[in-house]
Amino acid sequence: MFKEVEAYPGDPILTLNEQFGADPRANKINLSIGVYLDAAGKMPAMRAVLQAETALAAVLGTRPYLPMEGNAAYRSAVRALIFGAEHRAVSESRVATAQTLGGSGALKVGADFIAHYFPKAKVWVSDPTWDNHYSIFGGAGLTVGKYRYYDAATGHVDFPGMLAALEQLPAGDVVLLHACCHNPTGADLNQAQWRELAGLIRRRGLLPFFDIAYQGFGEGPDADAFAIRHFAEEGIALFVASSFSKNFSLYGERCGSLSVVCDDSTQATNVLGQLKATIRRNYSSPPIHGARIIARVLDDAGLRAEWLAELEGMRLRVKAMRTGLYDALSARCPGLDFSYLNKQTGMFSYTDLTAAEADVLRQEFGLYVLSSGRICLAALTEGSIAPAADAIAQVLKR
Ligand code: LMR
Repeated sequence: MFKEVEAYPGDPILTLNEQFGADPRANKINLSIGVYLDAAGKMPAMRAVLQAETALAAVLGTRPYLPMEGNAAYRSAVRALIFGAEHRAVSESRVATAQTLGGSGALKVGADFIAHYFPKAKVWVSDPTWDNHYSIFGGAGLTVGKYRYYDAATGHVDFPGMLAALEQLPAGDVVLLHACCHNPTGADLNQAQWRELAGLIRRRGLLPFFDIAYQGFGEGPDADAFAIRHFAEEGIALFVASSFSKNFSLYGERCGSLSVVCDDSTQATNVLGQLKATIRRNYSSPPIHGARIIARVLDDAGLRAEWLAELEGMRLRVKAMRTGLYDALSARCPGLDFSYLNKQTGMFSYTDLTAAEADVLRQEFGLYVLSSGRICLAALTEGSIAPAADAIAQVLKR
């Protein structure tokens, strides 16, 4: 019956992570998947999350289906976190927001919606981007192309190249943008560049689709949402896929959201209705637990302050790991320039490591990095910097 079904070659991130789990070596180090680990190398259970969960455990009784669009308190809290509670688009009820199964679920619901209402639109992603962007938008039947983004020579965004590429696109095409902490490069636009880009997007009639999976890990939750808030302020219709996996350390709860900024509240009502229909076709409705925790934390001033403080500590720890790895690599390879590590932001950096070097690092040293050369600084610890740097230096010197 299934003899035509070909073997799955695996996912460049999740399959490598599975391989890491199965690796018996005690000295292995995992810089492949984008997760935050604390100074002890453990995935944290955040204090505010534990407190909210404990309080909820006392009241959680029956577990009815959530509405298709999810938990109402969660939806308004996430909207305020992304846009700011005072944003005009929010106060004018122009933002349709649905709870989704993580950021990937948000991208999928958005992709299905676009494939239905804008079937001729092509989706443009940065070169490079998170691999799953291709799978999700392509899987929804959309054609995916790439625009110039990363300049390996400088470790920065090739902003003129990006503008020139987007300038060529026909009106109505979708442009996928990483609002902060670009995955995989860590190279972000600055605020002046976002402003300029907003002008181009508006003039060309393009449809931006923001992916914000790392809010809080760049410069802080508000600064990281600057581009989204600015584009919406400029009256640009847009999509936002968000995730709480990293900033709440709630990976397995699959908590995300899809927001669509519309021209008016009637459009927003209709769009939300169609998002509900899309969700019903995919998985009917989202789960209860994680969204209740997040709503509780975001709506309680004390818990929210505690969460923000812990998140800030996480952000600063990742920055310290960047500096630590930069120092360690520079000391071991004096002729090489690792300054990109300190220029880039968020959980990732894009090294010049080749796929063959990534293989050697994994096989010989038990150091797991993506074959694209992406490393996750958020998974480094004080203790793993030296062995990771030793391994990378040895491979680079061959
Ligand atoms: C990553 O980029 O490593 C994370 O977003 C995890 C994933 O699902 O790929």
